[in-house]
Amino acid sequence: MSTRVLTGITTTGTPHLGNYAGAIRPAIQASRQPGIDGFYFMADYHALIKCDDPARVARSRLELAATWLAAGLDTERVTFYRQSDIPEIPELCWLLTCVTAKGLMNRAHAYKASVDQNAAKGVDPDDGITMGLFSYPILMAADILLFNAHKVPVGRDQIQHLEMARDIAQRFNHLYGREYFVLPEVVIEEEVATLPGLDGRKMSKSYNNTIPLFEGGAAALRAAVMRIVTDSRQPGEPKDAEASHLYTLYRAFSTPAESAAFRAQLEEGLGWGDAKQALCERIERDLAPMRERYQDLIANPGRIEEILQAGAQKARKLATPFIAELREAVGLRTLGAAQATGKAARKSGKSARFVSFRDDDGRFRFRLLAADGQELLRSAGFDNPKEAGALMQRLQAGAADSLRADGLAYAAVLDGEPVAHGPAAADAAQRDALIEQTRQALAALGG
Ligand code: TRP
Repeated sequence: MSTRVLTGITTTGTPHLGNYAGAIRPAIQASRQPGIDGFYFMADYHALIKCDDPARVARSRLELAATWLAAGLDTERVTFYRQSDIPEIPELCWLLTCVTAKGLMNRAHAYKASVDQNAAKGVDPDDGITMGLFSYPILMAADILLFNAHKVPVGRDQIQHLEMARDIAQRFNHLYGREYFVLPEVVIEEEVATLPGLDGRKMSKSYNNTIPLFEGGAAALRAAVMRIVTDSRQPGEPKDAEASHLYTLYRAFSTPAESAAFRAQLEEGLGWGDAKQALCERIERDLAPMRERYQDLIANPGRIEEILQAGAQKARKLATPFIAELREAVGLRTLGAAQATGKAARKSGKSARFVSFRDDDGRFRFRLLAADGQELLRSAGFDNPKEAGALMQRLQAGAADSLRADGLAYAAVLDGEPVAHGPAAADAAQRDALIEQTRQALAALGG
């Protein structure tokens, strides 16, 4: 069974070394593993929460897309898209907003930090806080739950948001009576570098201590590296490698053997100027070929747009049927169908039903149960719940033609493939009766 891994990056700034080593590089490496179904997106709706400068949001989307592609993301293999190209995300966000306790959002760290800052300033607690900031975790939950991601690699600051996504998913599943959503797991990769910025604090656009990845070319990279804060030890004096951000940065771009050699040089007294030079050269070895691809892409935004449109299409293939199922779940249904189902149910006084579940292997299956609970069909296992959901809908819609006898048992066959099996009967007559009962149950469900 493949594992769906999903992560997004907010498009508010120019990608820096920290974004690359901490998020983009590990995501690309993971996406090359067998059995990984990668979903990578640009969180541009989230960007609007933090940034009201349209030019900056627009530029950041372009730069970030070009960065993912230049860094080697294989968009044939993964699904790569912009959040704002998937209208099902805000639609799901609303469905989730309606089941999310306000109290849960009150506890969000980012919101609480803003309230605390306001308190410290002596202004109104909600000063400058938008509903976007307050509901930020719900939009993030929608990003994740829409695609039923199993694993979500993020930085430590996002752990609480993942917990909230699980809470919200559970609440929805519970209210609407089945496991619509997979509960996503947070992945904090210990191996992955959290890079220090120029001043030694975590590299972050909010601290203004970043080293640009591609923008400004090799010169800008070099200029930033030269500004890394070091201690005052002179050339010839032994340096404490472990305590130096320079060494941490070097390690993030080199093999264990290379970093051991660099460390030995520092301990032998390599001057900081030469150390910075060595760091630049090491980083450049990795980045120079990517930067060329980056510049080529930035010069051809139309090409990036095409790739993103194709990615959105791929993502929506899953999102569109799933949101239809969720709308149905909450009662946003086509009126004709609702009436017919109601009528059929009234006539028999009780009704057959589909139930879906996840088996021990983690595969998604469904069962069709008769009104009295007897199993009429049990599906094959599917890798994702939407596949199972779509087949349920097709069986419901085109019921009459799908059932085939199979020895003393029977199967529901779609596109020539058996997708679900009925129980074995004692004899052919009993089998035919079961087939007829199944046909009627499906017809009643389909209205
Ligand atoms: N909130 C994340 C951040 O700031 C970005 C993000 C938005 C995200 N939606 C997501 C990350 C969904 C993972 C999954 O880093």
